[in-house]
Formats: sequence, C-alpha cells, structure tokens
Amino acid sequence: MKTKTVFSCQNCGYQSPKWLGRCPDCAGWNTFSEETFSEPKSSAGGVYSAITNLSCVEPLLLKDVENKEDIRIKTHIAEFDRVLGGGVVKGAVTLLGGDPGIGKSTISLQISNQLAKGGLKILYVSAEESVQQTRLRAERLGAANSERLYIVNQTDLSLIIEYIRKINPDCVIIDSIQVIFSPEIPSGPGSVSQVRECAHILSRLAKAEAISMFFIGHVTKEGAIAGPRVLEHIVDTVLYFEGERHSSCRILRTVKNRFGSTNEIGVFRMGSFGLEEVSNPSEIFLAERPKRASGSVVTAVLEGTRPMLLEIQALVARSSFGYATRRAEGFDYNRMNLIVAVLEKRLGLHLENDDIFVNVAGGVRVEDPSCDLAVAVAIVSSFKEKPAKRDAVVIGEVGLASEVRSVSQAPLRIQEAQKLGFSQCVIARNNLDADHEYGIELIPVVNIQEALDAVFD
Ligand code: TYD
Ligand code: MG
Repeated sequence: MKTKTVFSCQNCGYQSPKWLGRCPDCAGWNTFSEETFSEPKSSAGGVYSAITNLSCVEPLLLKDVENKEDIRIKTHIAEFDRVLGGGVVKGAVTLLGGDPGIGKSTISLQISNQLAKGGLKILYVSAEESVQQTRLRAERLGAANSERLYIVNQTDLSLIIEYIRKINPDCVIIDSIQVIFSPEIPSGPGSVSQVRECAHILSRLAKAEAISMFFIGHVTKEGAIAGPRVLEHIVDTVLYFEGERHSSCRILRTVKNRFGSTNEIGVFRMGSFGLEEVSNPSEIFLAERPKRASGSVVTAVLEGTRPMLLEIQALVARSSFGYATRRAEGFDYNRMNLIVAVLEKRLGLHLENDDIFVNVAGGVRVEDPSCDLAVAVAIVSSFKEKPAKRDAVVIGEVGLASEVRSVSQAPLRIQEAQKLGFSQCVIARNNLDADHEYGIELIPVVNIQEALDAVFD
C-alpha cells in the first residue's frame, strides 16, 4: 500500500509538503502536523457511496421552485429555540462548540429528550462516552425513559451511516465530531482532513434525507473549534457555549445562522438536574451587586432581540510598578483604552499612572457599544472613589469628542430598566422620544460630563 505524507494546518486545513512554523493561510503559529495518507482500503460501497447514491436532481427554473417554509421543530426549551431562530430546522446541520465540561453533552441529551417527547426519532451517537455513562447522565436529567431515543457508542463513520439507514431517525447527534473517523478517508484519525470529510459526508446525508444533525465540537486552547474554519463552512448554524467553569451561568451564542439572526443569546444555569433556562437574566446578573461601592454601574445592552441589564465594574488603583496595567474582562480591550484616552484628554483626568481593570459581572461578554458610557462612569467612579447612584441605569455610546451617542432600540432597554425597579435612566439626548411615556425618570445627556453630573450626588 502506498503512503504519502503531508503537513496540514490543524486550524484551517491548509496543506503543505513541508512542515511550516506559521500557516500562510490563517497565520496561526505552530499549527502544522504530519498526516499520513494511504490508498483508500476499498473503493466500492462505504462512506462515499452514502453520498454518491443520493438522488440526482435536475436544475429547475428559479421561478418554478416551490416555496416551502422551513419546517421548524420546537424543543420547548425556549432559550434554545430562540437562539436557533425559532426551533430546530428540518435537515439543518448545527455545530455546537465549547470548552470541555461546559455542558455540551448535557444540553444535547436534554434537546434529544425534548424532541423525542415531541414524537421525533433521535439517534444519539455518543462517541466519547459509553452508553452506560450516557444512561447515568440521562437519569439525572430525567431523560432515561425517553421513547424513540436511540443511543450508540460508535466512532466509525460507515457504521454510523448504516445505523442512520436502519433506524431512519429525524435527528442525529454526533458527540463529538472530532473523534469520528473513517478508514476510507486517506489520513489519520483525529486529523483535520478526517474531521472535515466526516462532517461533509454526514451533512450531505442530512440534507438529502432531511435529518436535523448536531455536531458537537471541542474548542482548542486558542478558543477555536479544532479545524474550526473548515467545519464552520460545512454547517448551517454554529453555536458556541460559553461561561466560566466555576460559575453556573452558561451562555449559548450564535456565531453563524443560515436560518435566523446571529446575535441571539440563550442563558442557562447548570443545576443538579442539568441545564435550566434563565428567562430573566438581568436578575441573575444583578443579584450579587455590591450595596454602595464605587466603580459599579448598571447598563442595559441588547443581545439580539432581548434587552439585558448588566453590571459594569471598574477598579482604578495606583500602579505599584513602573508601568500601568490595563485589563478588560468581557469588554473590548481596545475600546476600554479609547474610553480612558477620552477621559484623560477631554475631562482632564490623570489616569496615566493608574492600573485600570474593567469587568462585566457574571462572565458575560458584551459587544454592544451602548455600554461605553457605563464603562466611562464606572472608571470615573472608582477613580474618585465615589459610588454612582444605585438606582440609575446608564446607557450610551461614547464618541472621541466625549459626546454621548444614541443607541438602537432604546425603548426596549428603558422598559427593562423600569421592569427591574430602577428609577432613573441616563441616556443620550438623541434617544429621547416625546411620544413614549415611561414610568422611569429619563435624564438626557449630550456628553460624558453631563452623565457624571447626573449620577454623582
Ligand atoms: P458535559 O455535558 O459532560 O460537558 P461537555 O460535553 O461540554 O464536555 O458537562 C459536564 C459538567 O456538567 C460536569 O462538570 C458536571 C456538570 N453537570 C451538572 O452540574 N449537572 C448535571 O445535571 C449534569 C448532567 C452535569
Ligand atoms: Mg461531552
């Protein structure tokens, strides 16, 4: 048997005949590893026949194509359905990524159970854990007596395809895609080529037979799913499960979605009976807010269609070393530096010798620029050691001239603040809308200074 060696980037799949220190395609360092290719063991039948036998469809005129609505199946786990854009789409392939131990297998089993309850036939391919282990977990989750939920411990792709053919399921879960291999694919198990080919074959099958598939993938140290870019191209939807290991809060985020919006998040809490939905995240995120501390400010961000109140914390401390440290947790580091520069230049604050730490409480990562103003106020509050008004919410984007800019969907954010019992809302003047009446006092501001005047007594 002929064998060939090639070096391929484990990050993006780029191939080279020689080892390279840096990938010319994705610019990753030290990502190359050697893969051995051998001639395929058999050419007839096998995994490729599964997709080459798929019925051939002639091209149609676009205007003649039937207008079929996506068929969505609700899992009745509202947080999950919303992230997917309204439920599991028939024939769609979803990649669920996250750190080991974050709860990917747990949520997959819960989804399987829910779908099975709804009358679907599920095949759960538990490639990493034995069926007994999965059974134990299912007992904890109350999913052990589920009808129509089949489970198998298998890593060989051709056998998995055989089971799919035999059982004819509506939904298949592959836990995890990284350990699936096929001897017919000419490269070693676990390599990027294997993962990509297996994912490709399975997703072709999903499309052809209208099976909804979930691929579970681990995240590498660098924070990307091993072979991430190749897998992201293949699937319809990419979900990431995030959260800090020691906190019970878990956030499910859409990175790509062919069937819905990509900025929805789902909030869960890991409990003793699996993942529980958190339908009022603001309460959770504000639960441990300190009573009267400087450097703590509440803001309202919008994640997808849902407003959420978050506590922004800042700590400004005299640097004990020669140079000042800056760190941002859950907030963009460069954006924090920009806000610090605005505070120094426009408000004359002397922050150059201070360490500055900014943190979004609860382990949430925010990208919404509407929390700029809250970050600015929190930094000033800590710097001056003056607590900001406790029952005020601060919303606004900050510009380089220290102006406060308007944010999108202000009414939703204001209503959320009102709902949680806040009495004042500091917001960009341009966001004021005479037609709306709220049960909360609005304080319009045009620059950072006005916001500071409003929140400090
Ligand atoms: P798991 O779903 O196995 O993670 P992944 O598949 O992403 O690697 O989750 C494992 C963790 O979840 C483990 O630390 C135990 C915890 N857990 C609970 O706290 N409660 C539960 O009901 C279950 C099933 C797991
Ligand atoms: Mg797992």
